[in-house]
Amino acid sequence: MSIEEMINKIGIRALHCLDPETSHNATIKMLSSGLAPTFAQVEDPALEYKWGDLTFKNPVGMAAGFDKNAQAIKPLMKLGFGHVEVGTVTPLPQEGNPKPRNFRLSADRAVINRYGFNNDGHDVVYERIRKTGRTPGVLGINVGANKLSDDRVADYVLGVKRFAELAGYLTANISSPNTPGLRDLQERGALANLLAAIIDARREQEDRLGRKVPVLLKIAPDVTETALKEIAEEVMTNNVDGMIISNTTITRPPTLKDQKQAKEAGGLSGAPLFERATVTLAKARRAVGPDLPLFGVGGVDTPEKAAAKIFAGANQIQLYSGMVYEGQTLVSKINQHLSRLVATRGVSNLQELVGIDNAQWAEKPLD
Ligand SMILES: Cc1cc2nc3c(=O)[nH]c(=O)nc-3n(C[C@H](O)[C@H](O)[C@H](O)COP(=O)(O)O)c2cc1C
Repeated sequence: MSIEEMINKIGIRALHCLDPETSHNATIKMLSSGLAPTFAQVEDPALEYKWGDLTFKNPVGMAAGFDKNAQAIKPLMKLGFGHVEVGTVTPLPQEGNPKPRNFRLSADRAVINRYGFNNDGHDVVYERIRKTGRTPGVLGINVGANKLSDDRVADYVLGVKRFAELAGYLTANISSPNTPGLRDLQERGALANLLAAIIDARREQEDRLGRKVPVLLKIAPDVTETALKEIAEEVMTNNVDGMIISNTTITRPPTLKDQKQAKEAGGLSGAPLFERATVTLAKARRAVGPDLPLFGVGGVDTPEKAAAKIFAGANQIQLYSGMVYEGQTLVSKINQHLSRLVATRGVSNLQELVGIDNAQWAEKPLD
């Protein structure tokens, strides 16, 4: 075992002695104060992805929810992530749900959370990002709606207007299971209305900034095949720039070993989400065609699973729970593996491998 791997393993063990929320807060503190060890990163032009005026140095991103309040953007990029998505940020600060609200299902390499968008709100997060300045990787800003808002569409529009000038890309998160009614925005009529409002707000910002900030829609893995097709159609007709697939699931696979914690309410992430999220991703790829950027998220905790997401149709991947169980060396392990894959498959860029195994996933049923 390398020294790096040893430090990584000791770090995970120490953090797992704490309850999940305390452990998470300690990690953010360590990162933001520069105390976390950093290891050598993979630099390979064959992993680069150009999207409009953005360049992703590698395809591995930190998923939303890890750095909700934009406190550790640069330190996370130092760990090797090509992009970091902060948020979800809501217009007003909110406390979220009562504690405990985050649970580790270690035997399943999974997490259940019901945080409920605890965050510092637009004003504080805006200032923090502004002070962070230019970042070495791509910054995504994920926006949402307040629990008690009486106009949720207006909350997303506020998010776009507020953060367009600071964001590499923006994400509209309509798929958290922990804000009651939020996922109803995925229903066709509501979605059409929301997307039209968001894209209008983005157009206004484009005129003001002279730059088109891409907007992604982040969806749940708990959608029927028909609903997924409708979502994809609305994304295309409203000129949304891409999709993130997926958020956590409210389902509980019967194979879960930790049946006690599985009963906790909230969204399940990590290894047991991989199959469902990847099938949803592959079907979405089929529905939108080869050109729309898709970010594949859910259950990536090995280099092989990262590659599988790309082969199923993802241009970029993101992870969160994988970091909880594998630690920070996971990022460089994935990038090393992908770099080798590009070489052994005889292609010049990883993007040439996007979707090569799409049918294998897209033909599985979505129950
Ligand atoms: C503790 C926790 C908090 C999360 N908070 C958010 C959030 O605020 N906004 C969001 O869009 N996704 C959030 N997510 C979902 C992740 O971004 C990701 O979509 C999901 O966890 C699946 O990826 P994973 O299996 O790699 O964890 C959260 C996930 C976890 C585990």
